[in-house]
Amino acid sequence: MQYLVTMQIDGMDVPAGTLFQNIRNGEETTSFVYDQQYLAREDAFALAPDVPLGGGSFHSAGLRSLRALEDCMPDRWGRNLMTRAERLEAKNAGRTPRTLFETDLLTGVNDETRQGALRLWDADGNVLTAPETGVPREIDLPHLLSSADRASQDMDVDIRDLLDAGSSLGGARPKASMRDEHGDLWMAKFPKSAEGHLEDVGAWEHTCLLLMEACGITTPSSRCLRIVNRSVLLIKRFDRKGAMRLPYISGLTAVQGEDGGSYSLLELVEFLESNGSAPEKDLPELWLRALFGCVVGNTDNHLRNFGFLHSNRGWRLAPVFDVNPTPGAEPKRFATALGFGEQYSSVREAVALSEYFHVAPSAARATCRELAKRLRNWRVVARKEGIAEASIEWMGEGIDRQLAELANC
Ligand SMILES: Nc1ncnc2c1ncn2[C@@H]1O[C@H](COP(=O)(O)OP(=O)(O)OP(=O)(O)O)[C@@H](O)[C@H]1O
Ligand SMILES: [Mg+2]
Repeated sequence: MQYLVTMQIDGMDVPAGTLFQNIRNGEETTSFVYDQQYLAREDAFALAPDVPLGGGSFHSAGLRSLRALEDCMPDRWGRNLMTRAERLEAKNAGRTPRTLFETDLLTGVNDETRQGALRLWDADGNVLTAPETGVPREIDLPHLLSSADRASQDMDVDIRDLLDAGSSLGGARPKASMRDEHGDLWMAKFPKSAEGHLEDVGAWEHTCLLLMEACGITTPSSRCLRIVNRSVLLIKRFDRKGAMRLPYISGLTAVQGEDGGSYSLLELVEFLESNGSAPEKDLPELWLRALFGCVVGNTDNHLRNFGFLHSNRGWRLAPVFDVNPTPGAEPKRFATALGFGEQYSSVREAVALSEYFHVAPSAARATCRELAKRLRNWRVVARKEGIAEASIEWMGEGIDRQLAELANC
């Protein structure tokens, strides 16, 4: 099989190359070749660091070494939906379920909501996969939330509504795409069906977004809904500008890393220094995010939780996402370390490493003290989000201890 891959540049879908899929003895291999006309364009850019511009083929087992494509295909939540849908369809038709190869998952994603600006087309020029139904509206969310609950409890339940609404998005948590009254795309993050009242993940994630905005970190627009007293977080998609799609790669792709590997934020620094279009703005912001992450204990900061958008002939740090606090005042182990040695990042270490992020030590200490002031009233923000007092206290000990460290810098 072969597919045309286009990259949207300034709102135009430009043929970028061809993806070939081969299945032999049940194993999938793929290769990608850039289109000569794409290579000849003045504004052409590499889809990702592992496929630099040039002639010749890039080969991969599955799509593992074609990470730009991996970034616009489903992650755990979407893959789970797609495999389940195939299993149910096969059961209803009385046949054996097909093996879903990486390319099937890639091309099976709803084109309207696909992450970033890459699009896939078949040999007849049909976009893959054209949506069968429209993107859900806010009014559809309560229904989708109960579908997600049912799906987590019963493997045989019909999940087509969730599949249409949410398979394009990465991450592990249940989610759905949504279009607002202006036609803009949003992502809705649902609570897990087993989420305890104390956790209230959506409201905490929203609280973090509000607090980060107050600290000067670039955040997407967001809202938190209460549906039957459970929090559903709505976040505006930053890879769309009106009808335009913006090229996106994850931090993991930027460093050509593997899921589950150990990395340092300094690797993102290196990426921005060589490939960024505004490193002088993005590096200090990356540092600010790291500092905020230490304050709230955002330990799940794996590199898929960082992203880059292509703009002005280089990559810019995408707005922040998926920042969540963790309870407890003990030193915390982060998925991505600040430096190369310690996985237990701290405010002190952030200050010690600030120069790598182009932040002078005196400016770093001043920022710490400023942040301590801006975050002083974090409890008020959390309460306004409707978070229960017990949950605030559960989370509070760690945050307060880190704020005291900030103030003493
Ligand atoms: N505002 C946004 N606009 C566009 N894409 C986004 C936005 N926020 C997140 N994403 C993309 O969607 C993916 C899933 O989002 P997110 O990380 O919030 O979900 P998650 O399920 O909590 O993830 P995890 O598996 O890390 O817990 C991200 O990895 C990123 O690629
Ligand atoms: Mg995530």
